[in-house]
Order: sequence, then structure tokens, then C-alpha cells
Amino acid sequence: MAKRTPAQWTRKHLLGLEDLSAGEILHLLDTAEKFLPYTTARKAAPQKLKGRTVLNLFCEDSTRTRTSFTLAAERLGARVIQFHAATSSLSKNETLLDTARNIEAMGLDAIVIRHQERGASEAVAKAVNCSVLNAGDDSHEHPTQGLLDFLALRHKFGRLDGLTVGIVGDIRHSRVARSNLHGLAKLGSRAIFVGPALFLDGLDDLTVPVEKSTDLNAILPECDAVMMLRVQFERHEGVAFDAEEYKRGYQLTAKRLARAKKGAIVLHPGPINRGLEITDEVADGPQSAILHQVTCGVAVRMAALSLCIGALERERRTARPRRRWGPDWKPAP
Ligand code: CP
Repeated sequence: MAKRTPAQWTRKHLLGLEDLSAGEILHLLDTAEKFLPYTTARKAAPQKLKGRTVLNLFCEDSTRTRTSFTLAAERLGARVIQFHAATSSLSKNETLLDTARNIEAMGLDAIVIRHQERGASEAVAKAVNCSVLNAGDDSHEHPTQGLLDFLALRHKFGRLDGLTVGIVGDIRHSRVARSNLHGLAKLGSRAIFVGPALFLDGLDDLTVPVEKSTDLNAILPECDAVMMLRVQFERHEGVAFDAEEYKRGYQLTAKRLARAKKGAIVLHPGPINRGLEITDEVADGPQSAILHQVTCGVAVRMAALSLCIGALERERRTARPRRRWGPDWKPAP
């Protein structure tokens, strides 16, 4: 059984699940649970972020994560600025760190960043003073996706220990698989990475033990949940991929899903390649928790933003006053 909650959340950044303790993960989930009634109901949420400003700095496309962070921040009363990489001065060779520092100088409390380079959120966190939340960096981590997966699992099973989750598909390119692996291990559950050999290669970055299998049919009877991953064609430079062969071995069909444990649920972070990794029948079927995951995402992001900005504000209250750069600014003597 994973250890419970620390008394107070102390991190101003959320960069990954690898660094968090089980207690911190559970604290985030318990906080998210309290926000859940405010995600879809027309019930006014506590205005914990009133007067705060959040920047959505997305350098890769997103539907769920950007929208979800936006709704989460706005429901808590924050103002959200949307940054669009394609129309920004990044196209004039301004660096990511200069971009982040410049927008922070306009007055920010948090930056939510998605970037195609591994470690981008950590680099930004070192460069700015405000909170930084990782919304996905290359195939490294996507911590709020992992957390929303855990919230959906807990709703179904009432616990997060002793579960087996088969994570199936394009593991090699998946930040979701990595965040789930770290989080599930800490919570006392088991992740099994399943896919063809070409998608199970390239996991040398992982410092924790990894269970792997190329045989989905053999693994399914052990699974409480089956998490299907999108085949990430945009990251496939030089990968020889045969869609028909992939479907024969790994597509989640209703017949295949029947091999999983009774009551097993189906997860998918989205976006879905319908008819490739998953059939319509399964994606839209009674065991699918896919849209429930999306709802959980808003609550998880409300929790992450409010806890991280809360820690930032405690830091700001106790920090030595910084030089004020404003109308009264004078150069140092
Ligand atoms: N799950 C997820 O990250 O989806 P988006 O790419 O649409 O944000």
C-alpha cells in the first residue's frame, strides 16, 4: 500500500512523475477529487486563482491538454494567455528561454509548457521564477496525463495498488507510457509495456525496471486496465511500420478485450487513430473510460495549478524582496 499524503504541498513546479513520492501523487489526486464537482457541473468553483495569470506555452499541437489547462485555470478564476508558437517570435529565432523570460516579465504566475524537446519544461523552470507545469516534453513525461489516468483508475477500482495495467502500442515514442510507469510503480501497481519489438526498443532512458511483452493476447488475462497508445507517426522517422501487421497483433478489438480480466477498463490518452490501435466498438463501448479520463483531466489540472501556484506564493512571501524594475527603477550604482 502506497504511503499517504504529505501535510503540505511544497513544489512550485510539476515537471514529471518520476520525481514525485507516492504521497505527493495521492495528495494531487485527493485535491483533484475535491475539484471534480466543478469540472462539468455549472457550479461555481472556489476562486483560488483569482487575479493570477497562466501562460499556455504550447509549441506542439494539442486538443485535450491545452483546453483542459485553460478550463482548469479559468474555473479557478485565473486569466489564461494562449501562446501560439507558429505566430510568435520563435519563428524569428528567439530562444524558448528568452520567450519564457520575456512573457514572465509581463507578470505571470505559471507557465504550462508543451515542447518537442525532452527537458524543455525543466530548462524553462530553471530560467524563470514562476511555476512551470509540464504539458508534455517529447517522449519524456506528461505528468498530468498520468495523474488523470490514475484518477480514472481509482474511480473504477477504488484503489491504486495491486492493479495491472497493460500499456499497449507505440511505447518508444510515448511520454504517457513513461509517466504511467513511474507513477504506477510508486503506487504499488504494475505496468506491462506491450507492443512489437520496434516499439519496445529505445527505452534505455528509463532508470526503473520495465516489464515488456510482444504478446498482447498472452498479457490481457492479467490486465485490470488496458491502456492503448496512439501510433505516433509524426515521430517515426526511419521506423518500418506495417499497419496491417500491427492490427493483427495489437489492435484492441472486442474479441481481444474479452480476454482481459472481468470488469477491465479501456484507457487511451487520445487522440485516437480509430481503426488502427483500437476499433470503434471498443473505443465507444461500455468498458471504455476514455471520455471519463478527459473529464478527470480538468480536475487534475485544477489541482496541479492550485497546488503549484500555492507553493509559489508561499515562496514569494518568504523570499527576500527582489529589486523592483518599474517606474522607480534606477541603475545600480
Ligand atoms: N492526451 C493528450 O495529451 O492529448 P492532446 O495531445 O490533444 O493534448
